[in-house]
Amino acid sequence: MWTPGDHVDDSTQSSLVSGYHPDQPIEFSHKLHAGDRKMECEYCHNGARRSPVAGIPSLNTCMGCHKFVNTDADAIKKLNEHYKKNEPFPWTLVHKLPEYVRFPHKVHVLAKDHQGQALLKCQTCHGPVEKMTTVEQWAPLQMGWCIDCHSQTKEPATPFKKATTLAPITCNTCHY
Ligand code: HEC
Ligand code: HEC
Ligand code: HEC
Ligand code: HEC
Ligand code: HEC
Repeated sequence: MWTPGDHVDDSTQSSLVSGYHPDQPIEFSHKLHAGDRKMECEYCHNGARRSPVAGIPSLNTCMGCHKFVNTDADAIKKLNEHYKKNEPFPWTLVHKLPEYVRFPHKVHVLAKDHQGQALLKCQTCHGPVEKMTTVEQWAPLQMGWCIDCHSQTKEPATPFKKATTLAPITCNTCHY
């Protein structure tokens, strides 16, 4: 069974592949920002605890620093070109679940264990992003992966009560 922290590598999957990392218009290093500089994930992905999508930061977030930092680097010049024209930066999406699946970030990021501590970290599902120079899809994102975690026992069964699990596994939990 998959437990949080394990890296599942299922080579049988077709459309969703762990390890997938498309080419990006510039090299953006999570290691440099979230690792070496210890920037919080949610500084840039601030939709995660508020909405279904974590969100990709706008150029305003980047240019707060890069108006002053490494302005001579080619990559930063590219950012600045888009920023000046008020255009979004053309990042290529790494993760993409099929349309018929519902995945809300908010409920996952806010989920608490029985002591009131955060149950899941970004890294539980995305792996050690702060060590990645190019971010990649880390988990398989297949239905079995979702259901394995949802089915983990929260409270064991007693003679009077069925065991409860971390989250529901009825079909319409995740399917419209
Ligand atoms: C300085 C801003 C910044 C910080 C801090 C940051 N990210 Fe990102 N993140 C980005 C940008 C920009 C992208 C889009 C470019 C890319 O995919 O490399 C991205 C992409 C991602 C993606 C892939 C999204 C997709 O396209 O599917 C994941 C997952 C991710 N970040 C997770 C994290 C996690 C986890 C942390 C903390 C350990 C973190 N990020 C910290 C800016 C940031
Ligand atoms: C329970 C697993 C799980 C956790 C915890 C989680 N994610 Fe995700 N994340 C996913 C899945 C699944 C997708 C793909 C969603 C889709 O394609 O609809 C995704 C997609 C993303 C994306 C790209 C699409 C988007 O929603 O903007 C970013 C960026 C991202 N996650 C960042 C984060 C950050 C930052 C955290 C922590 C604050 C986090 N995630 C926590 C599973 C998770
Ligand atoms: C809190 C400040 C801060 C923010 C916000 C920030 N960066 Fe950076 N960035 C830095 C620092 C510091 C460096 C590393 C400088 C060094 O060590 O050479 C850097 C380096 C880079 C580099 C490498 C430049 C080179 O020399 O080739 C790129 C590309 C980059 N950042 C892109 C981004 C993008 C895209 C965003 C927004 C998603 C972003 N940064 C947000 C501080 C920041
Ligand atoms: C590592 C564990 C983990 C993984 C992986 C995971 N989830 Fe969850 N999920 C949870 C937990 C815990 C909750 C319950 C949050 C709460 O209500 O406290 C939850 C809740 C949900 C909910 C809201 C359920 C409700 O109460 O209505 C949906 C929808 C959902 N998950 C979809 C998904 C999908 C789709 C995937 C796979 C792409 C996935 N989850 C992967 C742990 C996980
Ligand atoms: C916890 C979330 C979750 C639950 C619960 C869930 N699914 Fe899924 N399901 C997914 C995800 C994510 C995918 C897309 C990835 C994949 O194909 O594995 C998917 C894909 C599918 C597919 C398409 C598979 C294919 O090969 O194209 C079918 C059919 C399906 N689910 C049926 C069901 C049925 C029936 C139930 C209830 C018994 C159910 N699902 C419960 C998350 C869930």
